[in-house]
Amino acid sequence: MASSLLRILPIALLFTGDLISAQSMSIDSDDNVISTAKTLAANALTYYHGTEPGQTPGILPGPPPAGDYYWWEGGALWGTMIDYWHYTGDTTYNDIVTQAMLFQTGPNRDYMPPNVTASLGNDDQGFWGMSAMLAAEVNFPNPPSDQPQWLALAQAVFHTQADPNRHDDTCGGGLRWQIPFANNGYDYKNSIANGCFFNLGARLARYLHNQTYADWAEKTWDWVTSIGLMDGDYRIYDGAHVETNCTDINRAQFSYNNAVYLLGAAYMYNYTDGDQKWEQRINGLVDATIRDFFHNNVAFEISCEEHMTCTTDMLSFKGYLHRWMTTMTQIAPFTAAKVLPVLKQSAQAAVSQCTGGTDGKTCGFEWTSGKFDGSMGAGQTMNVLGAVSSLLVDKAQPPVTQESGGTSQGDPNAGQDSDSFMNTPAPITTGDRAGAGILTALVLASCVGTFAWMSIGD
Ligand SMILES: *[C@@H]1O[C@H](CO)[C@@H](O)[C@H](O)[C@H]1NC(C)=O
Ligand SMILES: *[C@@H]1O[C@H](CO)[C@@H](O)[C@H](O)[C@H]1NC(C)=O
Ligand SMILES: *[C@@H]1O[C@H](CO)[C@@H](O)[C@H](O)[C@H]1NC(C)=O
Ligand SMILES: *[C@@H]1O[C@H](CO)[C@@H](O)[C@H](O)[C@H]1NC(C)=O
Repeated sequence: MASSLLRILPIALLFTGDLISAQSMSIDSDDNVISTAKTLAANALTYYHGTEPGQTPGILPGPPPAGDYYWWEGGALWGTMIDYWHYTGDTTYNDIVTQAMLFQTGPNRDYMPPNVTASLGNDDQGFWGMSAMLAAEVNFPNPPSDQPQWLALAQAVFHTQADPNRHDDTCGGGLRWQIPFANNGYDYKNSIANGCFFNLGARLARYLHNQTYADWAEKTWDWVTSIGLMDGDYRIYDGAHVETNCTDINRAQFSYNNAVYLLGAAYMYNYTDGDQKWEQRINGLVDATIRDFFHNNVAFEISCEEHMTCTTDMLSFKGYLHRWMTTMTQIAPFTAAKVLPVLKQSAQAAVSQCTGGTDGKTCGFEWTSGKFDGSMGAGQTMNVLGAVSSLLVDKAQPPVTQESGGTSQGDPNAGQDSDSFMNTPAPITTGDRAGAGILTALVLASCVGTFAWMSIGD
């Protein structure tokens, strides 16, 4: 009797422990949303070591094999943290964010630091540029005047990408994935690289009220649809190769593509004072996004989640989906009634599975499962942080412009003369090439109509 009780006891204790930790964080009031976001922000930054002695500011550990994360994801983390500040008002991390955003600008102040040349894609640079743009739009505290300014950094990224160097006639136009011609993936034109460029162009057009940026955004949207990277049902496919004149479309779909185009389209809609053309496009893309990337109103990364073949990059896409669809509802308010209830339900599912780790508040990746799946990392945490802090959108100021309170200094000449290094590529190591950029590995991971040689190549 006694001995069997002893055997049962630890099991009973374990059980109680589980019940306690299975209590998920609450988002049922604004105060609870803020305190949950606070926990998540702290958890997200446990993956960041850039403030420690001997570590590099701005980046998450990596790139592989040095750590799990590519350079771009640092830029994405700071965007998530800028939104966190904007929505919650918590200034705890602002200095860390500013230091990180400024440390990685590179010598030409255009987010092309020499360290990452060997795997530098237009999308990687674009993610940092979009975080700088966000800082300008939410009036994140400006850096000291002898430092690069948020708006000028976003312009620099855009200007380097609008340079004739980056636009050739293959496939009838568009940006390539990689920037230096010697990089693996230079022969690929993809939706995310062009999506970041489109998004930034639309935002700069609205912020500066300057048609030059809007023209580029229009042209980019037209090109993406004309070659079928976005089809008539608003499915956005990954990319295609210049060797086939972009006819070998890789049909893998990722939620960050939908999000980046939706937000850009919303800015175009707002910039054009409600042009019906953009309203129709947004409506089509909203419906397609809810159809393809939400299962019963819970975010689901369709190309990789079912069999959990998501790469580290892909494990962070849901956060951009939530954050950018949320901002869309501020500048294209007609979308709010349809979209916000979906995002709310999805965010509830997101926090419900954050019951892992020693704190019982660590998030996994599979939101639809209802329980912690054991998949932990910066992306998984950023996803939920983005979804939760965005719930405060009702009380948040919409993105400003130069004429409506924006204080960031621009520079019409930012990013000129930046691309000279393209003609003298830096030495490339096998390690750098093998992992390059945001998506290559997806081809290995996803099964639909892929061209596996692209990433297996080296
Ligand atoms: C580039 O890499 C070196 C060596 O790891 C590091 O000391 C430096 O801070 C890095 N620069 C940037 C901008 O990341
Ligand atoms: C390549 O694709 C573009 C865009 O679809 C098209 O305009 C052009 O005619 C194509 N070129 C060739 C050689 O097929
Ligand atoms: C543009 O965005 C502002 C918020 O900054 C919003 O008040 C306005 O209604 C939007 N314009 C249109 C046409 O929806
Ligand atoms: C609009 O932006 C472009 C690109 O930066 C610049 O060359 C042009 O001078 C700007 N136009 C105005 C009216 O400021």
